[in-house]
Amino acid sequence: MQAELDKVYQKARSEIEQAKNIPELLNLKSKYIGKKSLLNKLMKQISSLPKEERPEFGKKLNIAKNKIQELITIRENQIQEIQYKNELKSEAIDVTMPGRKRKIGNLHPITLVMQEIEDIFISMGFDVVEGPDIEDEFHNFDALNTPPDHPARNLSDTFYLDNDILLRTQTSTVQIRTMEKYQPPIKIISPGSCYRNENDATHSPMFHQVEALVVDEGINFVDLRDILNDFVKKMFGDRIQTRFRPHFFPFTEPSAEMDISCVKCFGKGCNLCKGTGWLEMGGAGMVDPNVFEMLKIDPEKYTGYAFGLGIDRIAMVKYNIPDMRMLFENDIRFLKQF
Ligand code: DAH
Repeated sequence: MQAELDKVYQKARSEIEQAKNIPELLNLKSKYIGKKSLLNKLMKQISSLPKEERPEFGKKLNIAKNKIQELITIRENQIQEIQYKNELKSEAIDVTMPGRKRKIGNLHPITLVMQEIEDIFISMGFDVVEGPDIEDEFHNFDALNTPPDHPARNLSDTFYLDNDILLRTQTSTVQIRTMEKYQPPIKIISPGSCYRNENDATHSPMFHQVEALVVDEGINFVDLRDILNDFVKKMFGDRIQTRFRPHFFPFTEPSAEMDISCVKCFGKGCNLCKGTGWLEMGGAGMVDPNVFEMLKIDPEKYTGYAFGLGIDRIAMVKYNIPDMRMLFENDIRFLKQF
């Protein structure tokens, strides 16, 4: 029986030392020292020993049982430590790993150009004001000295929402809203969306203008020319020239269209300027006294200039965009480039 006890003990020891996890260890515990264990079986056989050997063997059995319990505790600690280390390893942070790049959007080219235009005019002392996209005929036409039979009022150009309510066709509406509220001196720009029923490579039903209005005593056409010259050089570079062609707008007198020398060929003629050497930028002029009178500003005392530039055209020229519709198609591959 002594030999059998030794054998059981050795087997228990080697199996416990090789146990890989806690459940396995619990199984071994019940196998060797539990109620139905091998040691208990030996305990029951004690009565078959000669009387004088019984206490001695009982002691040995107890010692073996305690030792096995001890081995189990040791192994249990080892297993827990290994599991803990593995856990730490799997949760470890490698601070040398490159971070995951967060996908962030970028500003639309129109927004970028608008912000640049605003910054330039703010640096020249202008305030930035806004007006509504949905307007009435008074602000879009009447107050801008545009008679009822003017072709621009035609349904084919203007999006009417109701009898007298429309989507503004120009940011010039904000001139009126500003002069309704404030007496001169006035020095504002107003960027925003405009709407007209047209759609091709150089026209979009929704487009953008920046309006400017300066009213004070003694304002003249030279002031207008100077401010536009300064703006154009700040926006496109020192080499760019401006030129003014006589034109007609109902709300300015005299009126002009402003061109800049081509930003690509500097006036020699290329595909961008269609060989002319010039690019159209917008309309300008001296505020018509009729407009002042309608808004109760004294035309004998005050003069003013106004202009409206096409922001989409500026963006197209600046970023070499061949078709205006690309600006509004929302193609991510296009928009990501800015
Ligand atoms: N509103 C005009 C247009 O849409 C542009 C314009 C011309 C604005 C002359 C002005 C101006 O302020 O004085 O074509």
